[in-house]
Amino acid sequence: MLYLSNLIYHPTACPTAILKAINLELAPQKLGLIIGPSGSGKSTLLEILSGLAEPTSGGVFWREQELLAEQLQQLAGLVFQFPERHFCGGTILEELRLGHPELGSERVRQALSEVGLEHLSLSAQPHALSGGQQRRLALAVQLIRQPNLLLLDEPTAGLDWSMRRQLVNLLAKLKQDWTLLVVTHDAGDMLAIADSCWTLNHGELKSVDPAILKAKVQEPQPAA
Ligand SMILES: Nc1ncnc2c1ncn2[C@@H]1O[C@H](COP(=O)(O)OP(=O)(O)O)[C@@H](O)[C@H]1O
Ligand SMILES: [Mg+2]
Repeated sequence: MLYLSNLIYHPTACPTAILKAINLELAPQKLGLIIGPSGSGKSTLLEILSGLAEPTSGGVFWREQELLAEQLQQLAGLVFQFPERHFCGGTILEELRLGHPELGSERVRQALSEVGLEHLSLSAQPHALSGGQQRRLALAVQLIRQPNLLLLDEPTAGLDWSMRRQLVNLLAKLKQDWTLLVVTHDAGDMLAIADSCWTLNHGELKSVDPAILKAKVQEPQPAA
């Protein structure tokens, strides 16, 4: 269980807090979805949850235990927005083993098969893959570390309709084994598979019922 208690992030240079007293609970093997416009604080929250930034006050807990940034780096795996821009391995194998040269071929195969890329050659270049395959590889790069919590920043951004659908299906499958927290400015794709939802506006997080949001998205639009 991930649990955030009154988490505040307020860099001294900022006139107002970027994240304002955030409370959140996410159960294991669930997909949590945070929806907020650009600049609302989504990526900042993921940076804190992955141990890349420290909150000003409040805590991040995992099963009752409060975690420091260093422990969060171990616990969480963050897939950045447009993760393919950060690929630096010359081959799929290098990309998966970056920072973990000790990982055996069994773990490599397992990570690729979790994201449906088991048919690819380990010597293929990450940059030569399709957009959808690159997103899957970026997920595998985090899954190979077997994190307790998988954090995804705008996972469908920049993908076409069919690739978005494939990625949503993959995330639905992954939540059978992993705990996922997704942030997005566009709820449309992900609502169908979300177990819990929140909106984030100017750093304020509010819980919303996914069913109510789904009904809103499906409402017939007035004729133009
Ligand atoms: N370290 C920082 N210092 C000052 N401002 C920051 C810092 N990090 C993020 N911001 C500001 O915080 C707000 C939230 O940013 P961000 O988390 O990137 O939002 P989102 O991912 O929802 O688009 C923005 O206004 C951004 O400019
Ligand atoms: Mg962002």
